Parts: sequence; C-alpha cells; structure tokens
Amino acid sequence: MSNVLTICGSLRKTSYNAALVRALPALAPEGMIFIAAPPYGTMPHYNHDDQDATGFPASVTAFADAIRAADGVIIASPEYNWTIPGALKNAIDWVSRMKDQPFRDKPVALQSASGALLGGSRMQYHLRQCLISVDALLFGRPEVIVTFAPQKFEEKTLELKDQTTKDMIKLQLDGFGKFIKKVGGK
Ligand SMILES: Cc1cc2nc3c(=O)[nH]c(=O)nc-3n(C[C@H](O)[C@H](O)[C@H](O)COP(=O)(O)O)c2cc1C
Repeated sequence: MSNVLTICGSLRKTSYNAALVRALPALAPEGMIFIAAPPYGTMPHYNHDDQDATGFPASVTAFADAIRAADGVIIASPEYNWTIPGALKNAIDWVSRMKDQPFRDKPVALQSASGALLGGSRMQYHLRQCLISVDALLFGRPEVIVTFAPQKFEEKTLELKDQTTKDMIKLQLDGFGKFIKKVGGK
C-alpha cells in the first residue's frame, strides 16, 4: 500500500493538470492511493524577514506535513514561460526552509500537461533540478508529458480520453510504485 500525495501546479478551476491528477486513480496499480495536497495558492511570497518575524504560515505547515506523511509525491504542473509556475515554486521555497525539510528522501514523480508542442517538458527539467536541491528522490522514466492538452481531454467534462496518454500514465505509475518500494523502504 502506498499513499501518494498529488500536487497540482495550476490553480485554475478548469486546469488540464488538475484533470490529469483526477485521472490517476483509475490508472494506478493496486494499493496506490492518492491524496490531494492542501492548498498552497494563498501562501504569501517567501520573505526571510517574515519567516523570522512570524514563523511559518499555517498553510506552509499543512503543506509540509502532507508531504512528510506521504510515501511518495506526484507533481502535475503546467509550464509558465518555459519554467515552473511561480505559486508552486513559492510553496517549494517555503517548505525548503523548514528544519525537518519534507522533500528530503521523498520519492517524487513529475507530470505535465500543456496546450503546446513540448507539453511542459521544460518545466519538468527545471522542477527536477529544483527538487534535487531539496534532496528529493526523483523518479526517472517513463515520463508523463501531455502535449496539445485540449485534444486529449473531453471538452466539457475534462475526462482524459487519449488512450496513448492513459498507457503512458499506467506505465509511469507502475514504475513509480516499484520505485517507492525500492528507495522508500516500503
Ligand atoms: C503565464 C502563462 C505562461 C505560459 N507559458 C507556457 C509555456 O512556456 N509553455 C507552454 O507549453 N505553455 C504555456 N502556457 C500555456 C499553458 O500550457 C496552458 O495555459 C495550460 O492549459 C495551463 O495548464 P492548466 O490547464 O493546468 O492550467 C502558459 C500559460 C500561462 C497562463
């Protein structure tokens, strides 16, 4: 049994990345359970002075606790201007300053969906680099990169309809489940 925390890098209601996260349970190996991360969109911009003055906001503590409690983390995110969306990066910056830094030795897999040709792959490589700086254990491949997202989801329901994408996700989740067992001692 592995508990996987999902973090969506998009804050918008009709996000393709949120839809990608919603598709995971049906494609997961037996025993993999998904829990949505607490909201991080209202965290203040990281400022060391604020941390010194008032400590960590409750939203940061809740986010960090959820990461600590999980056996693994999946981050599904769009790419903004070729890199990590600011709100997501801000959340990572906040928790990275904690003593019991939650990403340390945490198995993490990445996914991205974008409306364009590269499917958020540039964001993934930046996020991979960023998470290595906080000692996360990054799952390698297969990668989940959803290109031209509007063609892969039902227009009204946002249900994932593309079989190739589903197969890719299945393979990644299978591999990630094994990775969690291998590196996370599960
Ligand atoms: C500020 C901003 C920057 C963007 N930059 C990129 C980009 O660099 N590469 C890309 O593929 N798509 C880019 N997009 C388009 C997103 O791929 C598209 O809006 C996508 O649907 C966002 O993901 P979401 O549906 O999960 O919110 C950008 C969108 C916004 C709002």
